[in-house]
Amino acid sequence: GPAPVDYQAEDCTVSQGAVEANHAGYTGTGFVNGDNVAGAYVECAVTVAAAGQRTLTVRFANGTTSARPMAVTVNGAAPVTVSFPPTANWDTWATAELTATLAAGANTVRLTATTANGGPNVDYLNVR
Ligand code: GCU
Repeated sequence: GPAPVDYQAEDCTVSQGAVEANHAGYTGTGFVNGDNVAGAYVECAVTVAAAGQRTLTVRFANGTTSARPMAVTVNGAAPVTVSFPPTANWDTWATAELTATLAAGANTVRLTATTANGGPNVDYLNVR
């Protein structure tokens, strides 16, 4: 199949958040620190040649002691909640996976914080 692609969060659309680089271990030029509010999101434009199921991998850090859940929607539909558990500190990154069905051509993948704590820091979205 096609090669996996990393969509750096700092290159995606951010609503209620900022691109930062003050914690080690990110890839690319930084990561997205969403505001600590429900509704903050990062949305990546993902283009694939053929429709079908893909594995989405989110690289994240959560330096708190509680999960930071986010709703993941593809093309605005069918939210799937991913929990994003603690990663020991903000310099420690982990990955979370989900499967999603993408359409041929352009898609949007949006990760939206579902609690007032906001989401984790997000490094990238990988699609394979
Ligand atoms: C700290 C940390 C940020 C993080 C924030 C949070 O301020 O430095 O990178 O985003 O906590 O709680 O979300």
